[in-house]
Amino acid sequence: MEQEKIEASEKQESEYFISEKYSMDSFDVLGTLGVGTFSRVRLVRSKDQPYMKPLALKILKKTSILKMRQLSHLRNEKELMEQLDHAFITKILGTFQDDYYVFFVLEYACGGELFTRLKKLGTLPSQDARFYISELVLALEYLHDKGIVFRDLKPENILIDRSGHVKLSDFGFAKAISDSKTYTMCGTPEYLAPEIILGKGYGREVDWWALGILLYEMIAGYPPYCDDSPFNIYQKILLGRLVFPSYFDDILCSLLSALLEPNVQKRIGYKNNAASDLKNHLWFSNVDFNLLLIKECPSPWIPELMTEEDTSNFNTYPDSLEQPHAPKFTRERDPFVGF
Ligand code: ADE
Repeated sequence: MEQEKIEASEKQESEYFISEKYSMDSFDVLGTLGVGTFSRVRLVRSKDQPYMKPLALKILKKTSILKMRQLSHLRNEKELMEQLDHAFITKILGTFQDDYYVFFVLEYACGGELFTRLKKLGTLPSQDARFYISELVLALEYLHDKGIVFRDLKPENILIDRSGHVKLSDFGFAKAISDSKTYTMCGTPEYLAPEIILGKGYGREVDWWALGILLYEMIAGYPPYCDDSPFNIYQKILLGRLVFPSYFDDILCSLLSALLEPNVQKRIGYKNNAASDLKNHLWFSNVDFNLLLIKECPSPWIPELMTEEDTSNFNTYPDSLEQPHAPKFTRERDPFVGF
């Protein structure tokens, strides 16, 4: 009886990502857009509809997922993403699998990662930072209203679309928590709120903290609490000595202090009307959030592309048709789960 149950649940698991709509035969592979700890993202074009826009195909190796006990995370990522429909969040179009891989079919954001743009420019002008941060406020407000905490906000997970708007991507750490607390230590060291490090439970306010780190990094070119070792970063975050460069103006410092407030109950965005408090801050005084949501505000940078399949806004990766066992390319900042 027990054996039957196990077999039934294994069958369920193995059929979880099956799709009638897609298989690897549906696509021509055009290039690689990114490589992560468990995955690789490729640019693909539909064979049936070659005139459709190219798509991003996130490819996850089953053995790595099982070895790292990440299957429930993957199911969670799929289920969360399927509920989402927002202008500034990457849409999932479907999933499928073969014997070795699970595939997520996603919208393609041709402008690359905000990380790449930030590294190229060093810093962003305040006006540009305000545009991206305001769009992210709307994306996070939408997630929080659905009871979802994103937990991995950073320039690497913010893509730029064809018309220069943001697309929040990578829901691997996102979690539906409603009004409750969660305890898992996950995210990227520089972006962790103090309550995550302290391990006493945390809620959606961690995303507002991360937004503060992101805004600081966009304008200064480096995050406020940085060091070579994660341990030292945590110590600095817990110490909370927030230092602003002299060229940060008072209104910016006031917003950053409100977001990077160690006491969760005093942090802007803590109360129920969280995002409204934020939108009413003076730093956003010239932002029309209603126009922004319908993409009626001009974006600071429109990606220049030779063709729809141009991947020049992405780093280049060795592009064998076989999946690599381990990514050769590692970021300065790798996310992790647990200690
Ligand atoms: N859509 C989803 N993930 C993507 C990525 N890494 N690059 C471009 N578009 C994407």
